[in-house]
This record gives sequence, C-alpha cells and structure tokens, in this order.
Amino acid sequence: MDVTQAVAARRSVRGFLDRAIDVATLKDLAVKAARAATGGNIQPWHVDIVHGESMRSLKQVMAGKTERRERETPGYDVYPKEMDDLYRARTFAIGEEMYGRLGIPREDKRARAIWFARNFQFFGAPAAYFVTVDRRMGPPQWSDLGMYLQNLMLLAVEQGLATCPQECWAMFPQTVEAFLTTPAERMLFCGVAIGYEDPDDPANLTRSARAPEEEWLTVKG
Ligand SMILES: Cc1cc2nc3c(=O)[nH]c(=O)nc-3n(C[C@H](O)[C@H](O)[C@H](O)COP(=O)(O)O)c2cc1C
Repeated sequence: MDVTQAVAARRSVRGFLDRAIDVATLKDLAVKAARAATGGNIQPWHVDIVHGESMRSLKQVMAGKTERRERETPGYDVYPKEMDDLYRARTFAIGEEMYGRLGIPREDKRARAIWFARNFQFFGAPAAYFVTVDRRMGPPQWSDLGMYLQNLMLLAVEQGLATCPQECWAMFPQTVEAFLTTPAERMLFCGVAIGYEDPDDPANLTRSARAPEEEWLTVKG
C-alpha cells in the first residue's frame, strides 16, 4: 500500500468487531505517528492508549452517564458559534448521509441522540487513543495535533485497522481527564477509536463527500 492508497482508503468507521488488538501494535502506531511535522518541532501531544480492562471500565462509566443523561462543561467549542452557510451545508450533508443510511429521520431527535451515544462506547472498538495537550498551547500547536492524528489513522489503515477520530469526548472532559489522570496543565482534545471494521454494520456504509475544489482551491500562476 502506498500513501495515496492509504489516504484514499481511510475513512471514519463507526462499527467495530469485538476483536482485540495487541498492545504492541497500538504502541507501535502511536510511536510511528510521532514522525509528524510540528512547528518548531514542539511535538505538543500527549497520547494515552486505553484497551483491555481499562477500556471495559471506561465504557461502563460512560454507559452509566448516558443512561442518566449526565452532562459536563465542554472542554472547548467543537464548532464555531457562528458558521457560514458553506460550512453548515457540509456538516448537514454528512449527518443526512449517515443517519439516512441508518434509516433515522432528521425529526427523530431521540433516535439520533441514542445513536450518537454509541460514540461513548467507541462504536464497539476494543481500544482507543486519547490526545491531550498543554492548555497554554494555541491554534498552531492544535493543528500539529491534527498532523499526528492523520499519521496515526493512515498507519492504522496500513495495518488493516480502522479508526474514528472522536471530538465528542470534549463533552466529557472531566470524566476522561480524571480517568486518564491527566495533570491539570493538560486538556483533552479528542479520542480515536481503533479496531477491526465490522463489515455488516450499516453505519459503515457511510461515505463522506468532499467539496469540489472550486470551493476551496485557488491557483495563481
Ligand atoms: C478531529 C475530529 C473529530 C471528529 N469527531 C467525531 C466524533 O466525535 N464522532 C464521529 O462519529 N465522527 C467524528 N469525526 C469524523 C468526521 O465526521 C469525519 O472525519 C468526516 O465526516 C469525514 O469523513 P471520513 O473521516 O469518513 O472521511 C471527527 C473527525 C475529526 C477530524
């Protein structure tokens, strides 16, 4: 597999088989991903791997919170408060694509909320990464985290593994940071569910579109 193939093959998977990944593989991917470029080579990430008994216990904690409809103060705004129609249309479209595949209509807010809560069971994945960052870091360093995440997800593809990046965890920063014993100076950015794709899960029929390049690409000769 070459880079072009890995980039084309990676997609967010939201249904995993109940099949463990050995910890050596999880660590290997995390370490290799750290070849990502970062401004000033600052390497602003901290990565926690969760698997096995810890994963089971976090899923249990989250099942309880979902059941009791608990809320926390989000760690950050996942989307800007004000967003142009251009961007709004793109996120609307992926929602329609995904929930459409699952047969959940837009008006059925309850069914959508129940399905969304599968995020907090990592869509059945046996393992996950959590990425935390020093609270004093700014947008340039947060973009470095994105470089790390993309490397991680592409390397997973190379290993026949699937991933789903999950910023939904920003809705439960207190729980996750306490669970990971993250020091106060760091904050949670996101999780990444990792595992073997369940080919029979209808959620995995989702295919995200990309905006035509005329919307975002300018070339000056
Ligand atoms: C930083 C980040 C956070 C994301 N958080 C979530 C999430 O919480 N739950 C989810 O189902 N998908 C999440 N996604 C997946 C996006 O919806 C997905 O990347 C986008 O729709 C494009 O689809 P693709 O990844 O299949 O190409 C996230 C993606 C990124 C990059």
